[in-house]
Amino acid sequence: MAKHEYGEVDAMTSPPDGAAVQSATEIIRDLDEQARRPRLDARAMPASVYWSEAFHAAEIQKIFRAEWCCVGREQDLAGAGSYVTCEIAGEPVIVVRDEDKGIRALSNICRHRMARLLEGSGTVKRISCPYHAWAYDLSGALARAPLMPEDFRTDGIRLPEFAVDIWNGFVYVSLDRDAEPLTSRLTDLTGRLANFRIDEFVPLFRARETWNNNWKSLVENFTEPYHFAMVHTETVEPALPTRLTDHEQECGEAYNIFHQHRVPGSSFEYDGDVVYANDQLAEAEQLVQPIICIYPSHLIALSAERLFWLSLQPEGTDHVNIFWGVDVFPGTIPAGEEGEQRKQELRASFERINEEDRGVVEQIQRNVRSPFAEPGPIAPKERSLWEFQRYLARRLGAG
Ligand code: FES
Ligand SMILES: [Fe+2]
Repeated sequence: MAKHEYGEVDAMTSPPDGAAVQSATEIIRDLDEQARRPRLDARAMPASVYWSEAFHAAEIQKIFRAEWCCVGREQDLAGAGSYVTCEIAGEPVIVVRDEDKGIRALSNICRHRMARLLEGSGTVKRISCPYHAWAYDLSGALARAPLMPEDFRTDGIRLPEFAVDIWNGFVYVSLDRDAEPLTSRLTDLTGRLANFRIDEFVPLFRARETWNNNWKSLVENFTEPYHFAMVHTETVEPALPTRLTDHEQECGEAYNIFHQHRVPGSSFEYDGDVVYANDQLAEAEQLVQPIICIYPSHLIALSAERLFWLSLQPEGTDHVNIFWGVDVFPGTIPAGEEGEQRKQELRASFERINEEDRGVVEQIQRNVRSPFAEPGPIAPKERSLWEFQRYLARRLGAG
């Protein structure tokens, strides 16, 4: 589908014509009712969860300000002072490698007059404010405040710090310092994926973009293979056909998962043979490609040789900021010019797939406020959507 086929999406803040304005509590109750249906009788989520401002505010408070959000890979922060900036639930955050090689997440708001400290990514010796040059060390402690009175003391002034957890080389931040560590919620998944050696994958490229849809539509789209034949007719479907997907995988409280199976010898990602450099994977496992959502919004498509992942942050009800990338297993990509070409091919393939999906999820956003928009039954291949509904209902406190 062409990128701009559906045009720009208008802000959608009001209910469909004639519909009563529902409170977040009422929508959460509807969602919970839906999520309690037996799996094989499951239905898509109520349309209001995609456009209600009240529901969105509840999601920000109870999910994005409380949960773990992926901010990239450990290897994106190579040495001391290496940093990336991001926003979690609208909160500006710096993720930085400190002097002791630990990874810290600090508030990106200066303690003087609240200016933004760092932008983008890069490497710094100190975190220096662009407004009046207050400078913080890599632990977030104020180290310098020029032209302040002689008796001004910097000690005790620090950037607020958030919780960090690392799972398989992915770095996660939670604004809630008391959040239960993500790694302990993913123990069984860690075991199931151990042979893939995810922590060894190395970064190939990174990208950031904003789509005009609710974040949940993209989570749902990524975690169901039901649409492959129609939306990815010439890309994903020939190599990883819907009929070969296994949605009977046990899911956890903190994630959902299904398995794709590759048609031997096929790849939509680049010309040439796939190199299986990871000898820990048995031959049958080399053809298995798990698709995982680590709740709320970290999406992973894993294979023996590459790791395609997206981390989503909602911006209002109808925009989503996407940080995504591809990492590869060491030895998969040849050195030199050939390797560079492979990298470009991989990037082009995933950009194409993203555009195919983007056409659909942005169109859905245009439809959700229609008085005729009613959720229908979901297919067995969409099991992950049912799992996701149940997660949302739990986190939003439906009981
Ligand atoms: S706001 Fe940062 S030094 Fe003034
Ligand atoms: Fe898709």
